Amino acid sequence: MRVPTDPTPLVPHLRGLGTTIFAEMSALATSTGAINLGQGFPDVDGPSSVAEAASRAILQGHGNQYPPGPGIPQLRQAIARHQSASYEIDVDPGSEVLVTAGATEALTAAILALVDEGDEVVALEPWFDSYPAAVAMARGTLRGVRLAPPHFRLDETALRAAVTPQARVLLLNSPHNPTGMVLNHDELVLIARVVAAHPRLIVVTDEVYEHLTFGVRHTPFASLPGMRERTLTISSSGKTFSFTGWKIGWATGPAELVSAVRSVKQYLTYVSGGPFQYAVAHALDHEMAWVDGLRASLHTRRDRLCHGLTEAGLDVVRPDGTYFVTTDISSLGWSDDRDFCQALAQRAGVVAIPCSAFYDPADPVRTLVRWTFTKREDVIDDAITQLTATDLTCHR
Ligand SMILES: Cc1ncc(COP(=O)(O)O)c(C=O)c1O
Repeated sequence: MRVPTDPTPLVPHLRGLGTTIFAEMSALATSTGAINLGQGFPDVDGPSSVAEAASRAILQGHGNQYPPGPGIPQLRQAIARHQSASYEIDVDPGSEVLVTAGATEALTAAILALVDEGDEVVALEPWFDSYPAAVAMARGTLRGVRLAPPHFRLDETALRAAVTPQARVLLLNSPHNPTGMVLNHDELVLIARVVAAHPRLIVVTDEVYEHLTFGVRHTPFASLPGMRERTLTISSSGKTFSFTGWKIGWATGPAELVSAVRSVKQYLTYVSGGPFQYAVAHALDHEMAWVDGLRASLHTRRDRLCHGLTEAGLDVVRPDGTYFVTTDISSLGWSDDRDFCQALAQRAGVVAIPCSAFYDPADPVRTLVRWTFTKREDVIDDAITQLTATDLTCHR
């Protein structure tokens, strides 16, 4: 007799997670041979001095065995110097800095550490796709603050409505993936006012694109008056130095918050990327000028892709930061972003990401599509040539 089995062994509260949209769309790019403007990773590596520092560390035996749990002291000190030099935020490298396996682990460990069953996490919506997964793992409830189209600005009424007494964490992301919006001064002050009115609320800010802004400046939420003691700031070397595969991230903030995250982190990965930690310490101390060049180059590539997408008939929302530009596809007759992205791969040989994956599945926006410009200019130009030669209207 056969024993009946569940369709999936995955526990019920995690069944909504499925496969990440990035894996799905990258597979579509591979199977169709399309140009992949979906997943946000650079096709040119970061500074060679940083790659050399990593290989030197491996060959000289630095970090090949378990590094210290919170991260090697050299990297924690470099992160503290970076926060001070970039934003005049002072953190103690001994107790207020934690090195993690990318920002992803810092985010997940923070949610698992701070959110109890029944607690609410309030996040800007659309959101990065690891947020709902982390909240589901913590058995919390995710509430979205929907950014208002067409420019994806923060709406005060939506923010105030989302932050209830059950809210434990306000999860911010600026510069914002997928929209490229960068929270401005007035929005940050508004958020700080709402936080001040909710004593139980802790702010977790995802600032992985902190250095990739175009003509506007990123302001860390922790730098607002009274917010440092309430805020855990998360960032990563992946985007800043174009080494997304190394997965060296970090969390900074008050010692109690960092210590809570560390309690969880030590049982997720314990430690990771020993030799890469040495290389990232070198990068933070010596390669910030390279980052200025990356920002300028991304600015040019942003303008190139925005222009090309407009020429191809798409409604472009020009981003102030990140790797991404968002387009509205409704004026081309489309009402389903997944259908559009499938047709796009077949008709134009280009892959982009349907933004419905970044919304609450109960009520997603289905008319936005995300494109990355963190690719070489010739790749962007080839994609634009293919897009402008294609009829992108909905045929149904
Ligand atoms: C908003 C945002 N947060 C976090 C991450 C993950 O960063 P890491 O690769 O350092 O884990 C990404 C990567 O795309 C991201 O876009």
